[in-house]
Amino acid sequence: MIKISKRLAAIASFVPQNAKILDVGCDHGLLDIYLFQNNQAKKIIASDVKRSALKNAIDNIKKNNLTKKIETREGNGLEVIKENDLIDTVVLSGMGALTIIEILKKGKEKLKSINHIIVQSNTKLELLRKEIIKMNYYIEDEQIIKDSNKVYIIIKFTKGQRKYTKKEIYFGPILIKKNTTLFQEYQKEKLQKLEKIKKVIPKNKIIEKYKINKEIQLYK
Ligand SMILES: C[S@@+](CC[C@H](N)C(=O)[O-])C[C@H]1O[C@@H](n2cnc3c(N)ncnc32)[C@H](O)[C@@H]1O
Repeated sequence: MIKISKRLAAIASFVPQNAKILDVGCDHGLLDIYLFQNNQAKKIIASDVKRSALKNAIDNIKKNNLTKKIETREGNGLEVIKENDLIDTVVLSGMGALTIIEILKKGKEKLKSINHIIVQSNTKLELLRKEIIKMNYYIEDEQIIKDSNKVYIIIKFTKGQRKYTKKEIYFGPILIKKNTTLFQEYQKEKLQKLEKIKKVIPKNKIIEKYKINKEIQLYK
């Protein structure tokens, strides 16, 4: 069994048993190798838009003798999915929120058969939650972890509808419920950063000041 980082292990823990997965932006393909070896998936397609990145996956898959088990496809986002693949789970990790949203919006038609979207991004999580919920998914689970001194948040969306408050969209409904020490520390640091930024916003930047005050209010 290959060794993977704590971040990738947390992503893998959100993949349902017997899933048919597309890993968008697989790069090294380590997640896919682990998922296969862990007997978690019925089908795995590892894809990347960048040829050199996909080559990393191809090489690692070869090294692990899984060329016949894990398919690799070069291409942009969900474009690589064909109808008879019957993909039901998409993983998008290590990407910016805007890239993830763009990929999902472009692949709107393909989303019809996708039951689960698993994302790990370090930017604009509020926007990410908001946009994926609009696509008719709800937040089934969330995890916050620390790996090599960096904090990561992983979100699992599942097809369906649920209503959320502004606070839940901002902080994460499940993360609020779990309320781990790491989550509390992470939010405390974010609040401190916001307060620092507020101090240096010039007095005449009224809209910016208003926005940051609103954000700070969410913490209080
Ligand atoms: C930082 S790597 C993350 C690799 C891996 N998913 C992980 O979490 O460790 C991001 C990868 O996403 C790929 N990527 C970016 N935009 C993409 C798109 N529109 N379609 C497919 N792959 C994309 C990049 O080429 C890169 O290999």
